[in-house]
Amino acid sequence: MPHSGNSADGVSRRAALRRMGGAIMVAAAVTTGLPSPARAAAPPARGAGPRVESLLGRLTLDEKLTFLHGADDPHDLGQAGYVPGVPRLGIPPLRLADGPAGVRVTKHATALPAPVLLAATFDPALARRYGEVIGREGRALGQDVLLSPMVNLIRTPYAGRNFETFSEDPLLSADMVTEEIRGIQGQGLIATVKHFALNNQEKNRTSVDVRADEQTMHELELRGFEAAVAAGAGSVMGSYNKVDGTYACENKQLLGDILRDRWHFAGWVMTDWYAAHTTVAAMAAGLDMEMPGEQAFGAALKKAVKDGTVPEAQVDAAVRRILTVMDRFGLLAAKPPPRPGRDAAAGAAVALDIAKAGATLLHNRNRTLPLPAHASVAVIGPTGYVPFVSGGGSAHVVPDHAESPYQAIKSRMRQGGSVGYALGADIYGRALPGGALAPAADLEERTVPAGRTWTYEGNLTVDEDDAWTFAVHYSGERPEVVLDGTELFPKLPGSAEHFSGGLVAVAPDGLTVRRASRTLAAGRHTLEITAKGGAEGQTFRLRRVTGATRADDVAAAVRAARGADHVVLFAYEDATEGTDRTSLALPDHQEALITAVARANPRTTVVLNSSSAITMPWLDEVGAVLQMYYPGQEGAAATAAVLYGDVDPGGRLTQTFPTSEDTHPMSGDPRRYPGVNKVEEYSEGIHLGHRWYAAQNVEPLFPFGHGLSYTTFAYEELAARWTGRALDVEFTVRNTGSRAGIAVPQVYVGPSPDLDVDQAVRVLGGYRRLALDAGERRRVTVRVTPRTLSSWDTGRHDWVLGTGRRTVWLGASAGDLRGSTDVTVGQRKGK
Ligand code: BGC
Repeated sequence: MPHSGNSADGVSRRAALRRMGGAIMVAAAVTTGLPSPARAAAPPARGAGPRVESLLGRLTLDEKLTFLHGADDPHDLGQAGYVPGVPRLGIPPLRLADGPAGVRVTKHATALPAPVLLAATFDPALARRYGEVIGREGRALGQDVLLSPMVNLIRTPYAGRNFETFSEDPLLSADMVTEEIRGIQGQGLIATVKHFALNNQEKNRTSVDVRADEQTMHELELRGFEAAVAAGAGSVMGSYNKVDGTYACENKQLLGDILRDRWHFAGWVMTDWYAAHTTVAAMAAGLDMEMPGEQAFGAALKKAVKDGTVPEAQVDAAVRRILTVMDRFGLLAAKPPPRPGRDAAAGAAVALDIAKAGATLLHNRNRTLPLPAHASVAVIGPTGYVPFVSGGGSAHVVPDHAESPYQAIKSRMRQGGSVGYALGADIYGRALPGGALAPAADLEERTVPAGRTWTYEGNLTVDEDDAWTFAVHYSGERPEVVLDGTELFPKLPGSAEHFSGGLVAVAPDGLTVRRASRTLAAGRHTLEITAKGGAEGQTFRLRRVTGATRADDVAAAVRAARGADHVVLFAYEDATEGTDRTSLALPDHQEALITAVARANPRTTVVLNSSSAITMPWLDEVGAVLQMYYPGQEGAAATAAVLYGDVDPGGRLTQTFPTSEDTHPMSGDPRRYPGVNKVEEYSEGIHLGHRWYAAQNVEPLFPFGHGLSYTTFAYEELAARWTGRALDVEFTVRNTGSRAGIAVPQVYVGPSPDLDVDQAVRVLGGYRRLALDAGERRRVTVRVTPRTLSSWDTGRHDWVLGTGRRTVWLGASAGDLRGSTDVTVGQRKGK
């Protein structure tokens, strides 16, 4: 069994503890049954309503300024932001809470699956339900504004926030964000689409200057934002990075020309946290609100108004935009809409449905899955016992509960079956070996009273040359641990210090965990520790994983694997905002564990709780790979349901998985990623994600759109026709297997011969998630909208329809195309 305290209850406790403080013409409907953004869709933000104008006329300058920056909440509910309102005029405060996978406040909320898993369902209707849960809970938990959804594209597999967003594909992202926003706002909570724009990595996120050409920007990253605006998002959050030399939060091209003038965005723009830099330039560019406090706005803005460098009309315009959204949501009414109660059971049901629907089966040799209910199973891996609920940083939610996958599998066992557990990989460490410290000291559970400091100076003696991983667990300020004169756990750059991962960075009892690996030579090493009690006292422990403990864990896992019919090995990768990953490999010797276990038992299924793409040099050794990402509070039940075939794994990859670190769009070009001298060039242009693999003819490990079912499907009778308004692609999908299952047929479209611009080999034109019984066939029409068929013309600064003869493919993924046909786009019927 794993360390004591690894209980489902422990999960909620630790979660509670770690909370810290141009459009072309048509918007026709049908790619996925959704309207696509059209310039004409949103009315210009001119005249605010009479209520807003009347309030504006009565506000003093000081009162107006309070709307334009965050403040401390006198009745803090643990949310990220607060704007006080003006009680004298009956204007209520605004409370602004993260985030992408549920409402992040001090209280419990439904921890939904990570957005990347939601997108894996390829089902915008589920995004609506996801949004509805967050919308209702946000209102119920005292919030007015949600700091989500995030719609930045997955550009680099290393980006720390890939789990918080949807996809590398602009169409899929746009469809998801549209429906999620409708869901959130339909419940009365104001949605904030973020981070505008080109915030596609965490490395140097507050300083990197992104250079993307106009066509690339409009066709890729901006599409989701435009869809969010068309869906009526009340607010937009500017990103940390610069775009073309100017910080996004004071970038006139982004906030003025694109957001307001082109898209007619009628809501307000806030900064990301601490992302305001200037007063005058930011106001002139169209920034409305600084978060979370007052640096560039507030007193500095008042001074600028007084000395005439900022016209008061700009202040009025910003306040008007905020009040107009508040009015639209009924918040200025004499009787604002009542707050609903939470419906935790309904939230849990949606979390479960989506986690099941997004489960993505990447590999299944010899039908390793589904598991027979009567088999003996060895569950292996730390996340097989402690559930990996959510990612770190602002995406973290305090879940209502979270079951251990081990327990969920156990409860699924039928007569004759049995389930065992082996840790396999130790993420929290074991006590330092007795006698290794001179002078002796107990570093397993030390408490330091408030106001006191505890120090240690001595030696650590190591018996043999070995690779050590030290883990410090602490409750207050991180203790200094200096080994051979060097700090083991140095301060992380920027905000990375405050954002820790979802699982590995918190011990089951709630203590924060930092880890450091060192190769130690046999002999004596100096060790100095300084732990401060601070204001509230400190509890800490220093632990280790060594070659010997690692070998013990692997040997126990191999024994368990040998003794069982099947193995379910849970592997993790713990990502968080604030830092990017440095490798696509599974961390912490997990690759060796997987290989050893799979060699002992080839009926090994690897369940992945990873944020994004990982490399799998061990793939040929294992029987099956099930990608569950960070599956939320119902992840254990969903995983068990898919493992045992209660439901078909209906998820598909929303990003391409590369074979290696050398074979993806960012490989070998630091100017592309992570940038050189803090300048990052999107020189892959419009060939992002699956488009790059097609353009370069590079075989990925798993292509975009890939995901296996427990049954098989045939794709037949493909036909495509230009209706005069859109491209209708018709085909038949037939379940050729003996059980019900989920098919996600995808339509891809080739370039137009009439356009003299760079075009993708294939773009995703549309898709449809279908549940088909054994033997069932269904005729489907996927409508490809003119926007998807258009390119951005940098000469006209507008969209241009890609007319002429174009190829349409139908496939099960970007790499599994089953048929194609040619069609002429732009020719009217009868011509
Ligand atoms: C993140 C935002 C988040 C904000 C408030 C920032 O560091 O980038 O996504 O909404 O913090 O928590």
